[in-house]
Amino acid sequence: MTTPKKLFIKTYGCQMNVYDSERMAEALGGQGYVETRSPDDADMILLNTCHIREKAAEKIYSELGRYKGLKADKPDLKIGVAGCVAQAEGQEIMRRQPMVDLVVGPQSYHRLPEMEAKTRAGEKALDTDFPEEDKFEKLKGRPKAQRGPTAFLTVQEGCDKFCAFCVVPYTRGAEVSRPVDRILTEARDLVERGVREITLLGQNVNAYHGAGPDGSDYTLAKLIWDLDKVDGLERIRFTTSHPNDMTDDLIEAHGTCPKLMPYLHLPVQSGSDRILKRMNRSHTADSYLRLIERIRAARPDILMSGDFIVGFPEETEADFQATLDLVEEVTYGYAYSFKYSTRPGTPAAERAQVDPAEADDRLQRLQALITRQQRDIQNSMVGRTVNVLFEKPGRLPGQMGGKSEYLHAVHVADAPVGIGDIAAVRIVDAAANSLAGVIA
Ligand code: 5AD
Ligand code: SF4
Repeated sequence: MTTPKKLFIKTYGCQMNVYDSERMAEALGGQGYVETRSPDDADMILLNTCHIREKAAEKIYSELGRYKGLKADKPDLKIGVAGCVAQAEGQEIMRRQPMVDLVVGPQSYHRLPEMEAKTRAGEKALDTDFPEEDKFEKLKGRPKAQRGPTAFLTVQEGCDKFCAFCVVPYTRGAEVSRPVDRILTEARDLVERGVREITLLGQNVNAYHGAGPDGSDYTLAKLIWDLDKVDGLERIRFTTSHPNDMTDDLIEAHGTCPKLMPYLHLPVQSGSDRILKRMNRSHTADSYLRLIERIRAARPDILMSGDFIVGFPEETEADFQATLDLVEEVTYGYAYSFKYSTRPGTPAAERAQVDPAEADDRLQRLQALITRQQRDIQNSMVGRTVNVLFEKPGRLPGQMGGKSEYLHAVHVADAPVGIGDIAAVRIVDAAANSLAGVIA
C-alpha cells in the first residue's frame, strides 16, 4: 500500500468556505490524500480564500510568502489557491507568486481531482469558470467519516442583489439553488454520521428557490419544514438572509417550526435611507424595522443578529447617527461591523471615500454600542433555562461546552452529558463571551 499524501487546507472568510473546504478534502481523499493539521508535513497546501474586504485578500499573499521555504525544501509540494481571491484574481496570483501550482474558483471544485493530477505532471492548473453543472453533485470522494454534532450544509450559492460595495455577485456568480432531494439526502447522511444540528448556508439563503421533488419551486420555509421531519435531526438554522427575501412562510416558520432555532442573522448594513439607496439595498430603515416587528410577533424571544458597514462612500455623521438609532431600536444579540473596504470593480469603488480616521472613529462608536447590547442580552440570560447542544469538552476538567438555542456559548461544570446530547441548562453566570450554567 502506498502511504497517503497529506493535505493541509487553511480556510478564510465565511461559513460557506468552511463547507467547501470539507467537500474539497473529501474530493481529494479520493485521490489518496488525508488531512494534516500542519503545513510542514503537507504534500499539498490549499488556501480557501476570502475577497470580501481588502485585508482578507491581501492576507493570502503574505501567507503564501511563508510557504516559500517549505517549497524550496520540498519541490514536490503543491500549493493551491481556492475561493473568492482565486476567482477574482485568477492568473494574477501565479504571476505574483510563481510557486503557486493551482488556482481554482468556487464554482469549479469538482474539477479539483483532475487539476491535482495536472500539477503532479508538473503543469500549472487554473480554472475560474462558472460551469453549468452542479459542483456539489460531482464533488464526490472518499467515504465520509463520523462527524461532530453540528454541520453546515450549503443549499444556495451566489447573489443577484449587487449591493454597491460587494464582490460576492462577481466571485460567486448568480444565485443558484440546489434541488430539494439532494439537500435532504445530504442532511440524512449527516444525521447518520452523528450530526444533530444543521445550519443551511447561502449567500442569500432565504432567496432559496430550489426544485422540489415534483419539479416545482420551493421556498426556504418549505425546505425547513421537510428537514423538520428528518428523524434524529434536532436543530435547524440558516444564514445569511436578505431583508427583502423574508417571506411570510419563513416568518411563520419561526413561530411554528419546532426544530427551527430562535436566531436570525439579518444584515441591514446601514440605518440611513440615503446610504441604503446608494448601497442599492432596495429596502429602507423603516421597512427593516417593521419586518423585525413582524418576526418578533411570530417569535418574541428571537435573537437578532446583523452586519453593518461604516464609512461607506459619502456617509455623513448624520447618516451614521441613523445607524446608531437603528441599532438602539433593534437591540442585537450579535452584530458584526466593518469599515468600508474599497473593492475593485464594484460601483461604490469609484465614489468619494470617507476620511479613514473618521471611519475608524465611527466603527469604534458602533462597536461600543453593539458590545453593550450583546452584554446586556447575555446578562439577561442569567436565571433563565436554555437548551444546550453539547459540542465538546470545556477548558476545565469535567466541563462540557455547547450552544444554546440562541447561539450563546454555554459551559457546564461536571456535566453528566456527552457530546451530541441536548439538555436543559439553568444559566447562573455571564462572562464576556460565554455563559455558565448547571443542568436543570
Ligand atoms: N467593505 C466592508 N464590508 C463589507 N461587507 C461586504 N462587502 C464589504 C466591503 N466592501 C460586509 C457586509 C456583509 C458582510 C459579510 O461583509 O456587512 O454583510
Ligand atoms: Fe453581497 Fe449584498 Fe449579495 Fe449580501 S446581498 S452577498 S452584501 S451583494
